[in-house]
Amino acid sequence: MTLPTKSAMNPEEFRLIQEFVNERFGLVLDENKAGSLAIKLAPRLDDLHLGTIADYYYHLKFSPDNRTEHLNFISLLTNNETYFFREDAQLKVFSDSILSFLKENRMRQKDRRIRIVSAGCSSGEEAYTLAMLLLESGQFVWEWDVQIVGIDIDPAVIAKAEAGLYGGRALSVTPPQLLERYFRKEGDCYRVKEVLQRITSFRQGNLLEFGDHFAEDSLDIIFCRNVIIYFNDSTVQKTVEGFARALRPDGYLFLGHSESLARITKIYEPLRFPGAVIYKMRDR
Ligand SMILES: C[S@@+](CC[C@H](N)C(=O)[O-])C[C@H]1O[C@@H](n2cnc3c(N)ncnc32)[C@H](O)[C@@H]1O
Repeated sequence: MTLPTKSAMNPEEFRLIQEFVNERFGLVLDENKAGSLAIKLAPRLDDLHLGTIADYYYHLKFSPDNRTEHLNFISLLTNNETYFFREDAQLKVFSDSILSFLKENRMRQKDRRIRIVSAGCSSGEEAYTLAMLLLESGQFVWEWDVQIVGIDIDPAVIAKAEAGLYGGRALSVTPPQLLERYFRKEGDCYRVKEVLQRITSFRQGNLLEFGDHFAEDSLDIIFCRNVIIYFNDSTVQKTVEGFARALRPDGYLFLGHSESLARITKIYEPLRFPGAVIYKMRDR
């Protein structure tokens, strides 16, 4: 007979944790993850001197000093898979079309500020990719104030993004000339150069509270790729409505290639490009 371990999770405990995760972080926890989650939670229970997963749930939900634990917990749940120059077709649309549209609009408005957000940026590869493409476009050199901000709920990946040190798979499809131009070799790894760091910053935050981080009508482009696949429909709707408030009226939203808003909301209009669909807000 195997004795239940302290962190084994019964169905009621799983339901409580599942509801909490969905309400606070928007993520959908699949039932077949119960076993692996129980194993990952064991060290957290030990650290906090808690006996059961139900105790852990009550700590997360009700303890007055639970913020640190929320951050520890979220690091156990997120899928942080990412790499530089992911999903080439969309990046081509960004470089070849959207940057020019934006530049024309901003020149007409005599406004030389461009703000781009990588929402669910993981360890920063997407934000630095956008920074490289922006610099390579050569379109925003004189007197432009350009900033790319990465935001992610998981503090561990934000620390990695800020360090800007990468190796192996993260750089596997990076064009060699850009690796040479924008990175400095450090041992077996590559560190992003100052020229990228100057226009890129990162912060920890929850996309469900997007308005706490970005003011209304302040952003030109939001990339939120490979993030909403982990959300249910009502959370996707809430998230993209938050994005719509933060985007300027002529702003653009890029989602992952398998992520669609067709069933979710009509506030965005899809624009079709070869190999990529991106979203623009309908007139408000
Ligand atoms: C699979 S990665 C995608 C990274 C990058 N956007 C890309 O396409 O390569 C998904 C990221 O979304 C983050 N994430 C998930 N839910 C979030 C939320 N509610 N708020 C902020 N970030 C979230 C995760 O921590 C994870 O780093």
